Amino acid sequence: MTENKYVRTETSGGIATVTIDRQAKLNALNPRVIAGIDAAFTALRGDADLRAVILTGAGDKAFVAGADIGVLAEMGTLTGAEVSRAGQEVLRRIERFPRPVIAAVGGYALGGGCELALACHLRVASERARFGLPEVGLGIIPGYGGTVRLARLVGLGRAAEMILTGEMIDGKRAAEIGLANVVVPHEEFMDRARKVAGRIARNAPVAVEMALASLYGAEENTMEHALAFEATLFGLLASTDDMKEGMAAFLEKRRAVFGGS
Ligand code: COA
Repeated sequence: MTENKYVRTETSGGIATVTIDRQAKLNALNPRVIAGIDAAFTALRGDADLRAVILTGAGDKAFVAGADIGVLAEMGTLTGAEVSRAGQEVLRRIERFPRPVIAAVGGYALGGGCELALACHLRVASERARFGLPEVGLGIIPGYGGTVRLARLVGLGRAAEMILTGEMIDGKRAAEIGLANVVVPHEEFMDRARKVAGRIARNAPVAVEMALASLYGAEENTMEHALAFEATLFGLLASTDDMKEGMAAFLEKRRAVFGGS
């Protein structure tokens, strides 16, 4: 377990839970919180046994209620661009994290909090989750990749609706439009996130990592290059012990035990 004033990490059975805990401000992201999140993921990169990460917010009300408006209010032109760029970089490192990252959203995921959830690979929502990008009501736009990632996830029309109106949607609606992968009763959302992580953890770790690389590589490539990249990764996996084990286990009608190489 690693400790930071606002961010803590607990690991059990190859699954890390990173909890953002600044409850007095609904877990809003100030520079120290953002640095804590970044440090937590950097530390997890060194964990060879890690299979998945759950990212969540402490308390009953919020995942993260946004970037800290008190900090944003002090921005000028240059510092504003820097605030945006610095946050984007941290979220990008989460998106490129080599293990699946699941956002477990039990309350407000607004502004930068919604963008943080969007940078994760999967989102498990409680019925009490509230997703929204209210930035235009504050005279700004989403600046941590929200305009880009939301449109990719739910389509341009729905992203435009959320970003231009600034209105929140609940967990059920988020699941309907594909913003959340699933919505469950509030009491169950952490268990469900752990269940999804556990299901991922049963699979071949290198294959999971390559699947992420191919999925996200494809978004940034032409069809030709994306398909070539997929074929290369597919070929690389054919040389792993995990592939031999996975296929042997199927043929022998037993459960595979993957060593991760
Ligand atoms: N930045 C800084 N402080 C925030 C915050 C944010 N994004 N979101 C909430 N807080 C603070 C509130 O100022 C309040 O602090 P205080 O007790 O010192 O006054 C505390 O968190 C609790 O929030 P409060 O507004 O009293 O809770 P609520 O249940 O009445 O409302 C929200 C909850 C989420 C609807 C409301 O806090 C809100 O609209 N927050 C801003 C959301 C936003 O615009 N985020 C995008 C920023 S780019």
